Amino acid sequence: MTRYSPLSTDADAPHSPTSSSPSAAVTAAASDLPLSQKLVKVIGNVCFSFFVLAVLVVTVVAVTYQPPDPWLTSSAALTNSLSATLPNSTFRPDDSILPTGEDLVPLNTSLIPVNSTDSPSSAAVPDLVNSPSTTSEEAGESCNPDKPVNCSDPKVLNAVKAFNLKAYTRRSIIFLSYDKPVPGSKTGECDVAWRFRNRKEKSWRRYRDYRRFRLAPGDNCTIEVTWVGKFRSGTNAAKLRNRTRSPGSSSPSVRVPIDSEINDTIPTVGSESEFKRAKYLYYTRGGDYCKSMNQFIWSFLCGLGEAQFLNRTFVIDLSICLSGAYNPWYGKDEEGKDFRFYFDFEHLKESASVVEEKEFLRDWHRWEKKGKNGNKISVRKVPTYKVTPMQLKKEKSTVIWRQFDGPEPENYWYRVCEGRAAKYIQRPWQAIWKSKRLMNIVTQIAGKMEWDYDAVHVVRGWKAQNKQVWPNLDADTSPEALVGKLTKVIGTRRNLYIATNEPFYNYFDKLRSHFKVHLLDDYKDMWGANSEWYNETMELNGGEPVPFDGYMRVAIDTEVLYRAKTRVETFNNLTRDCKDGVNTC
Ligand SMILES: *[C@@H]1O[C@H](CO)[C@@H](O)[C@H](O)[C@H]1NC(C)=O
Ligand SMILES: *[C@@H]1O[C@H](CO)[C@@H](O)[C@H](O)[C@H]1NC(C)=O
Ligand SMILES: *[C@@H]1O[C@H](CO)[C@@H](O)[C@H](O)[C@H]1NC(C)=O
Ligand SMILES: *[C@@H]1O[C@H](CO)[C@@H](O)[C@H](O)[C@H]1NC(C)=O
Ligand SMILES: *[C@@H]1O[C@H](CO)[C@@H](O)[C@H](O)[C@H]1NC(C)=O
Ligand SMILES: *[C@@H]1O[C@H](CO)[C@@H](O)[C@H](O)[C@H]1NC(C)=O
Ligand SMILES: *[C@@H]1O[C@H](CO)[C@@H](O)[C@H](O)[C@H]1NC(C)=O
Ligand SMILES: *[C@@H]1O[C@H](CO)[C@@H](O)[C@H](O)[C@H]1NC(C)=O
Ligand SMILES: *[C@@H]1O[C@H](CO)[C@@H](O)[C@H](O)[C@H]1NC(C)=O
Ligand SMILES: *[C@@H]1O[C@H](CO)[C@@H](O)[C@H](O)[C@H]1NC(C)=O
Repeated sequence: MTRYSPLSTDADAPHSPTSSSPSAAVTAAASDLPLSQKLVKVIGNVCFSFFVLAVLVVTVVAVTYQPPDPWLTSSAALTNSLSATLPNSTFRPDDSILPTGEDLVPLNTSLIPVNSTDSPSSAAVPDLVNSPSTTSEEAGESCNPDKPVNCSDPKVLNAVKAFNLKAYTRRSIIFLSYDKPVPGSKTGECDVAWRFRNRKEKSWRRYRDYRRFRLAPGDNCTIEVTWVGKFRSGTNAAKLRNRTRSPGSSSPSVRVPIDSEINDTIPTVGSESEFKRAKYLYYTRGGDYCKSMNQFIWSFLCGLGEAQFLNRTFVIDLSICLSGAYNPWYGKDEEGKDFRFYFDFEHLKESASVVEEKEFLRDWHRWEKKGKNGNKISVRKVPTYKVTPMQLKKEKSTVIWRQFDGPEPENYWYRVCEGRAAKYIQRPWQAIWKSKRLMNIVTQIAGKMEWDYDAVHVVRGWKAQNKQVWPNLDADTSPEALVGKLTKVIGTRRNLYIATNEPFYNYFDKLRSHFKVHLLDDYKDMWGANSEWYNETMELNGGEPVPFDGYMRVAIDTEVLYRAKTRVETFNNLTRDCKDGVNTC
């Protein structure tokens, strides 16, 4: 199946470096940009191809360009380096890691709360350490050691908080807000829910945990935690929200626990005057449709970057096409996938000006017809990418409509950002995060291992089969070779998460006598028919279940890998072969 999109050579030509030592040039560029030095480490196994080098050269040239967002300015070097990981070689279907914006944001330590509370949500209980509201009767009541613990007793929450701080802070967990404890399955048990963030987390999203605690009255009227359940064991404290059925559905709303913090509803444009006051950049579908997701991101961010350059609202088509290459067992391209299955639309809405295509088209047509009184909606149609963003800077029309009619590869969105435009357009990488729904699964997997695990990334698949281009990969990732290498760098009986595209589940069995092996498929329940993810994506999908596809697998593998204490990569650590084939590193 050839869905790979060869990059046009004319794009490479203007920047083709003549330097005999690409890696030296890269190092030089990196020391010019202090942050990218770190990043090079983060990305780990990037082998810079010529095209990538070209991007870096452009990057250095483009450093003078100041993006409007001050936060972005500080991480411009980082996002540029992320750009460097993507093009060309990785436009193939992703079978490797898949970083997005949140992975490359610098950690802002000043945002980490010193102690355990931040703005308490309405459901949160006041922190007793700060509000001494314990009255004498309460103290007297729970002082009776024969009385069972009452979960509403403020001392219960305090005991849990103190316990959590002691037990998990060394696991880098920051506790944010707590909900009111509720009774567990029997007396003496309370279920407590809270929001937390891992200190290593780059995004500022909050995640939920709820655990079951067993408590007993201690000496001196205290309450003590005597036992605590595993990650998300306190099911009675899981917050319930009624599922919002898609309009037209007659079935009654069901109460299901879902992540009530996700708000990725599609915004409406508002009034006619509001619509006409704004300016839009509209891309019709081009040749990128149904290509690999990397090409989708690369192209999408080009459009979004152009919209920011032109100070316009970008019209986003939330219905994307998943290349069949992500589901080899099915093999066909699948249209009608919701952008929100994969990416965080809520974050996108907050970090860029976007409007959803269907809403936009509906309003456009509605108000176009009424526009008899002089103020018609003006449109500038742009048939080819050869019209540069710079030429459109002064355009006054309400809508700039890029049409991408030509044959491939003339009709790829990303061609707009090639050549001279690359100096002006910054791809807003920080706008693309992975879907919070997927990240909830990542958090659950890391949580089940109590964030105390190491990980290895084992690339096999078509690369291992191609002995011409990757001569040693197959042997270096054989079970015996893995045992040999990993026992040297990872402690015996440690939790070992294996992120891999090896489809055979038992392939790694030889490692099981040395480590506690975890594979994504061990966590099937998290996207199975009773899972939170299943319920949530079904809600997005108009009540139809959403299959858990190959792209989602890679996205989750990537993020679990990034959270590991020790990380072993295929390229660099397991094999001397280059990521992109012979002589590319
Ligand atoms: C990048 O794409 C160009 C054009 O298709 C090709 O010649 C070159 O070999 C590619 N580089 C890599 C590392 O795949
Ligand atoms: C971290 O966040 C604070 C508060 O938002 C901000 O003032 C500061 O500039 C940020 N630091 C970095 C390095 O981004
Ligand atoms: C944080 O908590 C510790 C003990 O839990 C306390 O000693 C310290 O004063 C607190 N710091 C702040 C800033 O509240
Ligand atoms: C627990 O305490 C609350 C008030 O503090 C009271 O309303 C409730 O009845 C008590 N429950 C039990 C089982 O004692
Ligand atoms: C109980 O409280 C008294 C006085 O407040 C104190 O002297 C004693 O050490 C405490 N006992 C325990 C076990 O905490
Ligand atoms: C949720 O559904 C239940 C019935 O299943 C209903 O009693 C309750 O009022 C609903 N809550 C909201 C907020 O709609
Ligand atoms: C979700 O976000 C939109 C703005 O994008 C806001 O208008 C709406 O009230 C939010 N809904 C909830 C339930 O928070
Ligand atoms: C961007 O556009 C908005 C309205 O569309 C306008 O208020 C703002 O001044 C513009 N900013 C620049 C820098 O052109
Ligand atoms: C998903 O929804 C079903 C009912 O539609 C419910 O039985 C199940 O418990 C839910 N699963 C989760 C994890 O919320
Ligand atoms: C993997 O390789 C990188 C780069 O060579 C090295 O920095 C890192 O320490 C290695 N990791 C392990 C676990 O050996």
